Amino acid sequence: MYRTNTCGELRLADAGKEVTLSGWVQRVRKMGGMTFLDLRDRYGITQIVFNNDTDAALCEQANHLGREFVVQVTGLVAERTAKNPNLLTGDVEIIANSLKVLNASEVPPFTIEDESDGGDDLRMKYRYLDLRRNPVRRNLELRHRMTMEVRRYLDSKGFLEIETPMLVGSTPEGARDFVVPSRMNPGCFYALPQSPQTLKQLLMVSGMDRYFQIVKCFRDEDLRADRQPEFTQIDCEMSFVEQEDVISLFEGMAKHLFKELRGVELDGPFVRMPWSDAMKYYGSDKPDLRFEMKFVELMDILKGYGFAVFDNAAYIGGICAKGAANYTRKQLDQLTDFVKRPQIGAKGMVYARVEADGSVKSSVDKFYSQETLQKMKEAFGAEPGDLILILSGDDAMKTRKQLCELRLEMGNRLGLRDKNKFACLWVVDFPMFEWSEEEQRLMAMHHPFTHPKDEDIPMLDTDPASVRADAYDMVVNGVEVGGGSIRIHDSELQAKMFEILGFTPEKAQEQFGFLMNAFKYGAPPHGGLAYGLDRWVSLFAGLDSIRDCIAFPKNNSGRDVMLEAPAPLDQKQLDELQLELAPVEEKKS
Ligand code: AMO
Repeated sequence: MYRTNTCGELRLADAGKEVTLSGWVQRVRKMGGMTFLDLRDRYGITQIVFNNDTDAALCEQANHLGREFVVQVTGLVAERTAKNPNLLTGDVEIIANSLKVLNASEVPPFTIEDESDGGDDLRMKYRYLDLRRNPVRRNLELRHRMTMEVRRYLDSKGFLEIETPMLVGSTPEGARDFVVPSRMNPGCFYALPQSPQTLKQLLMVSGMDRYFQIVKCFRDEDLRADRQPEFTQIDCEMSFVEQEDVISLFEGMAKHLFKELRGVELDGPFVRMPWSDAMKYYGSDKPDLRFEMKFVELMDILKGYGFAVFDNAAYIGGICAKGAANYTRKQLDQLTDFVKRPQIGAKGMVYARVEADGSVKSSVDKFYSQETLQKMKEAFGAEPGDLILILSGDDAMKTRKQLCELRLEMGNRLGLRDKNKFACLWVVDFPMFEWSEEEQRLMAMHHPFTHPKDEDIPMLDTDPASVRADAYDMVVNGVEVGGGSIRIHDSELQAKMFEILGFTPEKAQEQFGFLMNAFKYGAPPHGGLAYGLDRWVSLFAGLDSIRDCIAFPKNNSGRDVMLEAPAPLDQKQLDELQLELAPVEEKKS
């Protein structure tokens, strides 16, 4: 038997027992005639003591242990004289009477402690060692508990967990696909699913009524802190439902998860915000509502006074940072530099302080009378001590997005984005389509299977860009944690949608014929949603990146530096697949 107990288990009540523990050597310390060994496993750390006076040979053996050796120790549990309140097992120690090295270890490339000395790249290369560290392991434990709670909740609501295939056909809408060549069908490719969207809809046609799956999805898109090329969805679909049914069931699930995993009780229904308001007041379809700082449009107030930047703008808008009028010139310059960064792209920033006497002092005083500045102050409801920051630009949408970045930055600077505070909302009434500059056509904002709002269906022919969808996203603290919609279940409406999206009837049939045909055989009204599991876990764990809650994540270039994937294929494998490669261009670094 390797062990009688784990390294996190023993307490004062166990004193006097003989136990055997197995684990990793965290640290060995020699103090006088004693050697102390911190033995670690997933459950905790237990102190083992070797006494030179009673067993010099055993103590000598312990002195030669290196970090991360795997050892087995037998001994007596004893009360510690110097207790360690930071350890669950800190009241006891084991007086060792035998020690066996189960496996030696090379010196690890970084220290395996909560605060590691290993940089990101090194920790990713040796991810299996990184996973021995408490903070990373705790994230995986939280992830496990979350999937358990999800299953429990959905099972209680009558959902069936059904697996769908990982080798599917390529679909051109949405992100790029990862493709897999087929040896048995030379020249043909599978795609890895971006989501099981169409398959879950087919399951509704099959009468499964309520489906869910905790499922890997694959998207070949540019990566960010909250995006991985393979990630996990809690994917759900329901029959005979309207938007309200889906929202209420999944709001219930969100509340359940908050309570079980964070001990947070969220009262009342979540805020519902139409997409158009989210864009107007926050410049984002995922506003962070932990703080107010709503946009105020200033076109009517500030245009036409000879300040060319504003006079030529298609949008002028600002935010009011409460109590920030004492910002120094240097801090304001930093903010200006922030909005001028290429990723944000503003040309400049105008500021105005509300002084103690209520007067307004701005960076563009020479163009505006105090009367006009007072009107602006009133538009914000600003008070003495407040700081107003204004951006303008010739593209309203772009300028709003820049102002959104500035708002978030001010939220950070003023400490308004507390990770232990949660602001949840549903963004609803999304536009059905968005214009793609790249493709020069309308694209589905969610996906082509989304049902338009009934009252907007007549506009599909006359003004498709104004049609709103029965689509909804859940947003928590500025992160889109899920999204879904009511689906089209009528083959004719679906065909019309493909037509608006620029598909010829033949192309639509070729790519989505299976779905449109299925709709001819009694498709029930249906709708659903998918939550992003990785995003939920990182939200609950207070992480800055979803990478830290994934056991083996990819880096920012989509590489697994541990497995060294992706990698070239052997010629033999290429030959089997009948693939010939074009010369690869050298990557410019
Ligand atoms: P959508 O594309 O909005 O919808 O995805 C649903 C949720 O999945 C998460 N997510 C991601 N998480 C990590 N990395 C990524 N690259 C990534 N992409 C998406 C987000 C997102 O809200 N089939 C539809 C759902 C439906 O309509 O039922 C879908 O996939 O949290």
